[in-house]
Formats: sequence, C-alpha cells, structure tokens
Amino acid sequence: MQTEHIEAIKRHEAALQRAVTVWISTGLLFMLLPGTFLGAWNLIEISDARTAARLDPAWIQAHGHAQIFGWIGSFILGIGFYSLSKMGGAARFAVSRAWTSWILWTAGVSLRWAANLWHWHWRALLPLSAALELAGFIIFFATVSRHRAAKTPAAGGAPESRVWMAAVIAGSIGFMLSLVANLLVVVQAAVHGSGPAIPHAMNQRLLALFTWAFPVVTIWGFSARWLPVFLGLPSPAPRPLIAALLVNVVAVAAALADMWILATILFLAGSALAVAALRVFRRSVRPAKITGVHPSFPAFVRSAYVWLLASAALSLAAAGWDRAGGLWGASRHALTVGYISTMVFAIGQRVLPAFCGMRVLFSPRLMFASLALLNAGCAMRVISETGAYEGYLPSLWPLLPLSAVIEMTAVTVFAANLALTFMQPPAHLRAQLSAASG
Ligand code: HEM
Repeated sequence: MQTEHIEAIKRHEAALQRAVTVWISTGLLFMLLPGTFLGAWNLIEISDARTAARLDPAWIQAHGHAQIFGWIGSFILGIGFYSLSKMGGAARFAVSRAWTSWILWTAGVSLRWAANLWHWHWRALLPLSAALELAGFIIFFATVSRHRAAKTPAAGGAPESRVWMAAVIAGSIGFMLSLVANLLVVVQAAVHGSGPAIPHAMNQRLLALFTWAFPVVTIWGFSARWLPVFLGLPSPAPRPLIAALLVNVVAVAAALADMWILATILFLAGSALAVAALRVFRRSVRPAKITGVHPSFPAFVRSAYVWLLASAALSLAAAGWDRAGGLWGASRHALTVGYISTMVFAIGQRVLPAFCGMRVLFSPRLMFASLALLNAGCAMRVISETGAYEGYLPSLWPLLPLSAVIEMTAVTVFAANLALTFMQPPAHLRAQLSAASG
C-alpha cells in the first residue's frame, strides 16, 4: 500500500515535470520566432529608414508582448508549476491544471501576436487574447496559492528565508495587475481605436507596469532565494529588500500617473536598494556552485545587476532628454536584454535542466557563448540606439543591425542548448547507460 502510494506520487511528479518542460519549450519558441526574429526584423527596418517613426507600432508591440508574456511569462508560469512538484502528493490535480492553463495562455499570446501582425479581426481578437491570458494566469495563481496556503506553516522560518517569497508574491501580483491592465486597455482599443496598436502614451505607461512590476520583482525574489546558494553570497538583508519593493511600487504608480522624472528617480533608488539588499557585489562567503555550468556563471549574474542599474539611470536620462525614442529604447533593452534576459540565461541554464526531468546541461561552453554574445549585443545596441536614434552620433546607425544579429545568435544558442538538454535522458539513466556500455 505504502509502495503504491509512493509510486503514484512519483508518477504525478513525472507528469508535472513533463508539463513544465512543455511550458519552458513554449517560452523558447515565443522567444525565438515571434519575439527575437520579429525584433531583429523591426530593427533592420528602423535602421534602413533611419527612424523608428515609420514602422507600424503594432509590430513593435507584437514583439514586446511575445518577449515579455510569451517568453518570460511562460518561463515564470512553468517554474511556478514546477514548485508544486516539490510539494509531494498534492500535485495530483495540479497536472491537469498546468495543461489547461498552458492551453489558454498559449492561445492568448499567439492570438495577440497574430492580431497585431495581420490586423485580422483585431477588434474581436485583442480582447479575446487578453481574456485567455488572464484566465490561464488565474488557474495558475489559484493552484499555487492554495498549495502555499496549505503547506506553509503559519509561523516560523527566519525572516531572510521568507523575504524571497514576499518578492515572488509581489511579482505575481504585478503579473496579475499587468494582465488586468492589458485587458482593460485592449478592450478600450477594440471599441474606440483605429488599429490594434495601443496609443503611444498609454503604451509607455503599460510598459513600466509590464517590466518593473512583474519580471524585475520576480527576479529579485528568485535572486534572494538562489544567489546565496549558487554564488555563495551572504544571505539577503530582509529590510532593505522590502524597502526596495515598496519604493518600486511607488515608482510604478508614478509612471502610471505620467510623472516620469519621479518614477525614474525611484526606479534607480529601488534598484540600488535591491542590489544592496541582495549583496550582489559582495565577496562570496562560500564557494559558488558551478557544477554542470560554465565557471563564468557568477560573473554574468553580477553583470546583469550592472545592467539593472544602467537601465534605471538611462530611464532617468530618457525622462529628461529623450527626443526620438533612443534613450527610452536603450533603457528598455538594458532592462529586458541586459538584466532580465541575462538573468534568465544564467539562472535558467543552472536550474531548468534539473526542473525539466533531472537532466544535466548539454554544454557549459554553449552557455558561455550565449551569455557572452547576449552581453556584447546588448552593449552595442544600447550605445548605438542612444547615439543613432537621438542624432548624437549618426555614424552608429550601421551598428544596430549588427547588434540584432549578435543578440539573435545569442538567443538561438541559448534555445539550442536547452532543447538539446531536454532531448538527453535524465542524469540517472545516463549514468546507468554509460555503466552498461562501459
Ligand atoms: C534580438 C534581440 C532584440 C531586438 C533586435 C529587439 C528589437 C526591438 C525594437 C527594434 C524595438 C522597437 C523600439 C526600439 O527601437 O527600441 C523593440 C521594442 C521592445 N522590445 Fe525588443 N528587441 C530584442 C530583444 C528583446 C527582449 C529579449 C525583450 C524582452 C525580454 C524585448 C522587449 C521589448 C519591449 C517590451 C519593447 C517595447 C514594445 C512596445 O513598444 O510595446 N526585446 N525591440
């Protein structure tokens, strides 16, 4: 009886891990085709025309939505569902929910992309896509919060062990608010708009919510949880991290109220507080855990936090001086490519092989190549976007398509490394196979 029960739990865990692998693979697909390839295409068009003003804003928004929700959102939802497999037999109904949520979410993000790109039935498809995304998220949120409520003891645990959860919960609320705001705005566009693109001023405000309130905060939470283990950093300081979260909430509220100077000063202050709280630039107190990954892993995690601060500083410059979208674009990509993507590339290649069926990363060298190319492409992009778009240094225009090709190569290498990892047998089977063949 006992053995049967254990076997049933194992089967449910394996089923949940399969669902999580599909979530992560879906995120990779959104990242590659609707996200990066469309982004690179847009950038080549902009460089040809030497202005971003002539490109259909619906295409730019299709790219941004595919990256933020299709890629980063799918990864966060997949990792969230994975955390249920760590909670024992409770995973039973979570498997079917993980699939239902995936169907709704994937359909929602795909429809949004199609409506933006081809303007096909966009008045109906925009609200439908946003409603499907929200429904997919609600299923995830209800499932995860029920488990957390059931499994987390009412009291206990050191404050530093709970502060990461506070940040992850804040990030989940930011995620939910982003989806609700998206639904409201696209309903308004469907009723009153003349095309699927969200008007510029409203879109700028939404983007502050979509980036600073959701992926950034969630990554602070995961950093508080994992960096002390993976980088051997001292434990995060709970109070400064809570202060960083509060400052960031006020910053997002100021951005939504169109108070950009205040908002960007606070983004910078919140990021500096988070960096101090997470002790990212302190010396490690224990050896970093780099088995199975490239030894440069801790350096890239630290570089991501340099990008976070650079992005916040650039957004302050943009609020004061932007004339042609170059400073805003540079600050946005310092955040989305420099910070968010570097963190996902670094931590993702560290944890996802284990989460998706107890595997080992296919190639630490490919991991290094993906991170080095991503950072080089991002630096080239941020510098040349500021110089070219704003007219400070028009000679930088030819560097923009080159930066797109370098970033595109980086994401392709990252996706290939994970796909090849998922195609390998799990670590214990590999060990058995090599023992049998040896
Ligand atoms: C190969 C890499 C990438 C290229 C070539 C690229 C290109 C572009 C271009 C040309 C724009 C139009 C605005 C501007 O000129 O700055 C844009 C906007 C944007 N990108 Fe990217 N991008 C890339 C990667 C990413 C990634 C990884 C993310 C997120 C994780 C992202 C998120 C966004 C967002 C949110 C916008 C704003 C969309 C809007 O206006 O609604 N991009 N990107």
